[in-house]
Amino acid sequence: MKARAGAARPVGVTRPRVETGSAAVADLGAPNVARPTMAQREALDRIDLSIDIAPQRGLVLPNPILVASGTFGYGVEYGEVVDVQRLGAICCKGTTLRPRAGNQPPRVTETPGGMLNSIGLQNPGVDAVIEKYGPIWQGWKVPVIVNIAGDSIEDYVEVARRLDGVPGVAGIELNISCPNVGKGGLQFAIDRDAARAVTAAVRRATELPLLVKLSPNVSDVRPIAKAIEDAGADAITAINTLSGLAVSSDRMRAFLGNTYGGLSGPAIKPVALRIVYEVAQVVSIPIVAIGGVTCLDDVLDFLACGAVAVQVGTAIFADPELLVRLGDELRLECLRRGLTSFKPLIGTALPKWAGAASAKGAEYRP
Ligand SMILES: Cc1cc2nc3c(=O)[nH]c(=O)nc-3n(C[C@H](O)[C@H](O)[C@H](O)COP(=O)(O)O)c2cc1C
Repeated sequence: MKARAGAARPVGVTRPRVETGSAAVADLGAPNVARPTMAQREALDRIDLSIDIAPQRGLVLPNPILVASGTFGYGVEYGEVVDVQRLGAICCKGTTLRPRAGNQPPRVTETPGGMLNSIGLQNPGVDAVIEKYGPIWQGWKVPVIVNIAGDSIEDYVEVARRLDGVPGVAGIELNISCPNVGKGGLQFAIDRDAARAVTAAVRRATELPLLVKLSPNVSDVRPIAKAIEDAGADAITAINTLSGLAVSSDRMRAFLGNTYGGLSGPAIKPVALRIVYEVAQVVSIPIVAIGGVTCLDDVLDFLACGAVAVQVGTAIFADPELLVRLGDELRLECLRRGLTSFKPLIGTALPKWAGAASAKGAEYRP
């Protein structure tokens, strides 16, 4: 997996490739990362990495590097290896109304450039999550966004309602890549009307900032993204895993207990980039990108395609410290370019003829 290669690369030895082509971004030469001068250190401290990913309600993150749902538990599991308070936000494990045992094993397998998982939303249910983790999150500086899932609109609404007003919960991310039992198992995420309906219903149930997560498993994601925006989402997160399959070594059956799994990791980055690029041209709400991030180059690519922040998932398994390092590296990149904020890096690769500047506002420079 590329994640390992990324992990082995010492910070500052390889300078990030940046091809955003923006006149606003000047290459001012790299500071010596290992030994920044006093002046450089002061300049680094002045760089503003904060970003509001839900301006309509206000969800200001200290930096744009988030943890992707399902890859970091509830934020407490990595406490020994990662200073979680230095993260932009934590999207916790998918949470459902009732406890779920998850799918039959095997549930994960490595693939070239990534992995397949079919965990099946194993979780203790929303009430247990609130009771166990709410008091912990309440004391944290890092915002916690609870990723929620369900198999009916009523389920989603009830989970959102129970989370509404819980201290320590900063926002909700809707995982709509779930079968809608009432519609014969068709996933909410691949049906524009269902995506709109579940977003609107959850919007009515909570005042919390609402992020809705797109599935890549559609032919055209743009109408779905637009419907989600129209239904009142504060932000879009993109993308969830790609549907995939592995075969057992005896070639007699599918390898995963659930037959199908979700592909994640570096292999999906070009797909995620394409979707972020497309969606950025049709919605005005912020986009948080996810898919195959393993190094600063990936972060810069997603920003250039219109994302205001990124989530890191699969790469954490190989390199948990990557999360904090990416924030540090982004700060250095801003210093190298003479920027006091990373916002001028957002949207620089989008077509210049896409239309009026988006409501993402000052950070989007057509
Ligand atoms: C083991 C595992 C569990 C996941 N669980 C969830 C989940 O509960 N809810 C969700 O919305 N996405 C879940 N995802 C998808 C990730 O949040 C992310 O969208 C995807 O892995 C792509 O990012 P990456 O390539 O950085 O891993 C999971 C991914 C993995 C690898």
